[in-house]
Amino acid sequence: MSTRPTLVVTRRIPAAVESRAQELFDTCLNPSDRAMDDAALAAAMREADALLPTVTDRITAELLGMSDRRVRIVANFGVGFNNIDVEAAKANGVVVTNTPGVLTDDTADLAITLLLMAARRTGEGERHVRTRQWTGWRPTHMLGARVTGKTLGLVGLGRIGGAVARRATHGFGMRVLFVDPYASDAQAAATGAERRASLEEVLGESDFVSLHCPATPETHHLLNAARLRAMRPHAFLINTARGDVVDEAALVDALRSGTIAGAGLDVFEREPHVHDALLGMENVVLLPHLGSATEETRVAMGDRALDNLVAFFSGGSPGDRVA
Ligand code: DGY
Repeated sequence: MSTRPTLVVTRRIPAAVESRAQELFDTCLNPSDRAMDDAALAAAMREADALLPTVTDRITAELLGMSDRRVRIVANFGVGFNNIDVEAAKANGVVVTNTPGVLTDDTADLAITLLLMAARRTGEGERHVRTRQWTGWRPTHMLGARVTGKTLGLVGLGRIGGAVARRATHGFGMRVLFVDPYASDAQAAATGAERRASLEEVLGESDFVSLHCPATPETHHLLNAARLRAMRPHAFLINTARGDVVDEAALVDALRSGTIAGAGLDVFEREPHVHDALLGMENVVLLPHLGSATEETRVAMGDRALDNLVAFFSGGSPGDRVA
């Protein structure tokens, strides 16, 4: 690189990655770590050559179509890129990259965490102990659902879905079903998961359903009231994908009416807002979008985003280009 391109990083990222960004580029960091508003994002699009945003930044068609835009590449800090209008990026010649692969295991671990927590009522149990309500062991106290040997249905058998399938099969002796029109038979064979032709079949046969599909117009409210009714009454829904894959209002109704037994949610329709009703329900485990939140993965995500920027500004093609 002959001259140093300018880069805006929209949120704090691990210190080692911020230092590397400063070595590589003329970098503007965000020490306050407050989400940038549309005006600040527009200023960044105008003043920098590259933007490194996160899931909390909406990179809209308006920003991408600005006539005085200088940014030529948006290197997203995340594998999901539904925060970016990819079609508008393509139309305006802006390159977009993501960070696949490096967060697979940690996100799969968190899906299994939620599954176990929801089934074994561990959030509820912890609240019970912390509020000094626990009066001692008894045979009928806080009975949950067994996980070992049960059937897990996966909606999406990509990297993360596959990693969840392996954990479920090898760790818990579960039978794993999946629906995914894009997954090859080789992928399925590598995980031992059984294909089903329709989502309804997966929902009807599973004791646990875990979502691992991207957020697209096709998957918006994929789990709606009718599909929640297609689940078994003792089943649990786990979501570590994106909030709007589930119709949150319909989920609240399904949990209230006993249409399903419980849920484990790491993502929400309007983050960081969580539906008021969910906050009061004991049969739901709620986490603040922690899927990829380990030190190791967040460093790897940052490095991956920087590698994509280096490839772009060196005249090559970034490995993780999605637009
Ligand atoms: C991802 O990488 O998609 C995580 O959800 C964080 O955005």
